Amino acid sequence: MRERFRVVGGAHLVGEASVVGAKNSALKLMAVALLAVGRTTLTNVPAIADVTIMAELLRRLGVGVDYDAAAETVVLDVPERIGHRADYELVRALRASISVLGPLVARVGEADVAVPGGDAIGSRGLDLHAAGLEALGAEVHVTHGYLVATAPNGLHGAEIRLDFPSVGATENILTASVLARGTTTIDNVAKEPEIVDIAEMLTSMGARVEGAGTSRITVSGVDSLSPCEHSVVPDRIAAGTWAFAAATTRGDIEVVGGVADHLRAPLGALERAGCHVETTDRGFRVTATGRTLRAFDVATLPYPGFPTDLQPFALTYNAVAAGSAMVTENLFEARFRTVQELARLGADTQVDGHHVMTHGVPILSGAPVESSDIRSGAALVLAGLVAEGDTLVSGVHHIDRGYPRFEEALRALGADVTREPDDEPFE
Ligand code: EPU
Repeated sequence: MRERFRVVGGAHLVGEASVVGAKNSALKLMAVALLAVGRTTLTNVPAIADVTIMAELLRRLGVGVDYDAAAETVVLDVPERIGHRADYELVRALRASISVLGPLVARVGEADVAVPGGDAIGSRGLDLHAAGLEALGAEVHVTHGYLVATAPNGLHGAEIRLDFPSVGATENILTASVLARGTTTIDNVAKEPEIVDIAEMLTSMGARVEGAGTSRITVSGVDSLSPCEHSVVPDRIAAGTWAFAAATTRGDIEVVGGVADHLRAPLGALERAGCHVETTDRGFRVTATGRTLRAFDVATLPYPGFPTDLQPFALTYNAVAAGSAMVTENLFEARFRTVQELARLGADTQVDGHHVMTHGVPILSGAPVESSDIRSGAALVLAGLVAEGDTLVSGVHHIDRGYPRFEEALRALGADVTREPDDEPFE
């Protein structure tokens, strides 16, 4: 059933919001479990539909998966013999499925993983994934829509340098190299906390990985890995969403479980814009009550730069902040779908290539809008909170992929947001 959120404008969000485990780590860690025979337990797994899709993909590979969403736990029972194919049907529903590529080549010597199609935030290639696996000794080709990688005699260590610090390529090369013969160095890697999380889990499984979180990762291959228990790193993008929720609505939110250190660029930008940001015993707190906040220029960059996943929130914030500002998107080509929807709400914006100029207005004007991906959807809900009247945000299934029970968390902060069927005419 299609659903939408009805968002009543005029909110100042005050209170506390809890941060769950990171979607973009939990899904990858489920794939990492393939590397060891036996029972691996992941805790702090967010209760989102993507985990169910990844669970299905792993079941089709022969893994026993017990996902307890209420307990935020996934137990994966990996048998000695597993399959090697990730079907298009599942990969198109969940791009993160490609993270099984590295573990499968390493464990089985073969992987057939469907090539994901384009999606709403621009084309995303797999060339760096393929080149990395080739350097490790795999043969890689694309046939009938599948990326096929084979290494019947196993992988060997290599010196690899990425042209760009791709998150997905870093993960697949890292997970492929842990069982390779010899030493692998990977330069210009992604430094995201989710990469560090994967490296920590691999280390608990017996892998020898050094340098995660820096630009160079060194892996000394081992013969086999053992299952482990691991807790997923807190979701920095969800935490950043709450920071922007406080700023945009001129509210005051303590982000419980949020790690300020993982959000230095966005929290620094909000501080310079006029918010008060402080770390607390339980996370961090962003206060914007009664403040006049300035719009800020920002360009998205690989971590530790300003995350592309928070770019739609910067746009929404700037739309109602004082002054003019430029947001530049450097990671994805077409990630400006939020702009045309914000314009429907009365935002004053101009797009020029990968730049968006905004001229802040005091208040937006409620209207029906459509979310095109997780982050634009959540950002449009925040826009609705600072609009006059009601805003109807369609495409709630996108938001549900990244924010478990988003409306309940917003209501706990004083917002009036309800979920309703999306088949009635707009009023
Ligand atoms: N790229 C290539 N070739 C490659 C790999 C990447 O050209 O072989 C390009 C892509 O086309 C893109 C850029 O590099 O323009 C960034 O891609 P990257 O590989 O770094 O990103 P990703 O692994 O596909 C992850 C997150 C995204 C997040 C980005 C950037 C997951 C499942 N996805 O994507 O998160 O925006 O890193 O931080 O981890 C989301 O959660 O909604 C989301 C889209």
